[in-house]
Amino acid sequence: MRAIIFRNYGNPQEVVELVDDMEIPKPNKNQVLVKIECSSINAADRYIVRANYFIIRMVFGLFRPSKKKSILGMDIAGTIQLIGKNVKGFKIGDPVVADIRKSYGGGFAEYAIVDAKHLVRKPDTVSFEQAATVPISGQAALMGMTLCTINPGDKVLINGASGGVGSFGVQIAKAQGAHVTAICSTKKINAVRSWGADEIVDYKKKGSIKALNGNEFDVVFDTASFECPGRYKQILKKDGKYVLVGGDFYNMLKLKLFGRFDRGSQKFMALTQEVEVTKNIKTVLEMIADKKINPAIQKVISLKEIPDAIHSLEQRTVIGKIVVNLNKKDVANS
Ligand SMILES: NC(=O)c1ccc[n+]([C@@H]2O[C@H](COP(=O)([O-])OP(=O)(O)OC[C@H]3O[C@@H](n4cnc5c(N)ncnc54)[C@H](OP(=O)(O)O)[C@@H]3O)[C@@H](O)[C@H]2O)c1
Repeated sequence: MRAIIFRNYGNPQEVVELVDDMEIPKPNKNQVLVKIECSSINAADRYIVRANYFIIRMVFGLFRPSKKKSILGMDIAGTIQLIGKNVKGFKIGDPVVADIRKSYGGGFAEYAIVDAKHLVRKPDTVSFEQAATVPISGQAALMGMTLCTINPGDKVLINGASGGVGSFGVQIAKAQGAHVTAICSTKKINAVRSWGADEIVDYKKKGSIKALNGNEFDVVFDTASFECPGRYKQILKKDGKYVLVGGDFYNMLKLKLFGRFDRGSQKFMALTQEVEVTKNIKTVLEMIADKKINPAIQKVISLKEIPDAIHSLEQRTVIGKIVVNLNKKDVANS
């Protein structure tokens, strides 16, 4: 089968390549084989390819990625082709969606095996392209928002609002009745506003974050935590909640292990545990089917375009999500 693999760590445009001779994996009795229709690019893909964090090398291979974990891609939407004999509730031909992080990727390929417990049925009214944006980004946004318990009228500040998770964060918070202030860079303001943000803070403008009023926000939802989370103490309400979803890995680790920024009833949390992943995916898919939110797809690409797409994520030129459609022909195969 065709797949996007990496044999070394480094620049995605140099180490990530399209091959056409990967073996189609075989499901065991508790798994299914999914013919992938669509997948999506995630921040995780770029972190794994670069392997700048030692923990990634511990998981994927110290000096180079292990052969078994060499296919990139963390989320899939497709149809079931083969089914293990213990799998209940699904049949061949069912359209499904899955987060496949626990199998160390495999989504940028024509087929992937998925543990049945990770499968979510795709609603008919949600396209494969829309569905492929949900397992990592949509699900993490919902998990973060759930951790903060948003009530209608709450003031929510979203940092990294223009990214994959942020694009869902803005829309989910709005759907839950929040007043959303979004932090993003100048070029992405129009898109973020079109997703429903009530107010925009352009962090490229000097002093714009400092200008935020004190004691203002019920929730800070941070997908781009590249500075100390403690800087939000002053602008959070007395009983406000901060959730760190992503950004600098060491900030996340520090907050999780040592960083008790809690002050009075203010709570500082890091989204490091994957809780109720399939339930969250299902809920986000239903929100799309009910037209409460709409995945912000910047573009749809073919397998061959993936190295450039990962590079563009590094360059921060992506707005929302890039979807990979396995049926989209690329030059090498047309
Ligand atoms: N905990 C979980 O389960 C979970 C799940 C999914 C993702 N994550 C993490 O959440 C983070 C965001 O993921 P994502 O998919 O939304 O990523 P993304 O699509 O790349 O978006 C991140 C956004 O953050 C902004 N940003 C601000 N400062 C940045 C900097 N120094 N470097 C890079 N971006 C910066 C960029 O927007 P502007 O150009 O507008 O600044 C960018 O669009 C990642 O760290 C990811 O690993 C965690």
